Amino acid sequence: MRRPFIAGNWKMNLDRASAVALAEGLAKQAEAVDDVDLAVCPPSVYLDAVGKAVAGSKVALGAQNMYHEAEGAFTGEISAAMLNDLGCRYVILGHSERRHVLGETDADINKKVHVALAGGLTPIVCVGELLEEREAGKTLEVIRTQFDGSLAGLSGDQVARLVIAYEPVWAIGTGKVATPEQAEEVHLDLRKIIADRYNEEVAQAVRIQYGGSVKPDNAAELLQQPNIDGALVGGASLKVDSFMGIVAGLGG
Ligand code: 13P
Repeated sequence: MRRPFIAGNWKMNLDRASAVALAEGLAKQAEAVDDVDLAVCPPSVYLDAVGKAVAGSKVALGAQNMYHEAEGAFTGEISAAMLNDLGCRYVILGHSERRHVLGETDADINKKVHVALAGGLTPIVCVGELLEEREAGKTLEVIRTQFDGSLAGLSGDQVARLVIAYEPVWAIGTGKVATPEQAEEVHLDLRKIIADRYNEEVAQAVRIQYGGSVKPDNAAELLQQPNIDGALVGGASLKVDSFMGIVAGLGG
């Protein structure tokens, strides 16, 4: 059985005091949560402070991005070793905002995935189609291309350790959530791709989160789908109550 995993992607929001307060609030509420993995991914400048606030709790720490080189003259970038040093367990890679606003390619993401795994981090690799791609009937083709490009050259063991987040771009920050059927179709297809490229055991091991306007009032329906193993939450992860309301959705 795959253990459900709910992660908050705080994106470029909050200041230090509010990030720490949110982390402390979540750490406290998480005491009552069992059988679910939880993580928060604050802006990199607050990783240290938030890491201290969640230390020893059921809330793990994740970063929103990293660079594929180990060290050196890469102004503004952050290495896997630095994330490990701060206590990160996860790193989001290939988020749609990095793909579409900051121009990251599948090849860039692929390099990062290899380095993150080699560094002992668990990548949360994001894939997702644009609205025009969905309307043109190209959703599954786009997801397959992103999967093959972003995850090229990995062994089955490595893929089994990944988290994949399906985030349809048109559902991110728009309030327009994918229906449970739309999301389940893509999650099931992702598992078919993994079974094709590797085997059924790997396909059944990988956790696949859904992301895109997940809120407490739509989470339960999404999370009850057989191939949806959790959520990557943006806006609703910025408040203790709404994040924990989503986690409560796992209870049915
Ligand atoms: P929202 O939940 O704000 O739509 O963002 C989703 C997301 O991009 C999480 O990574």
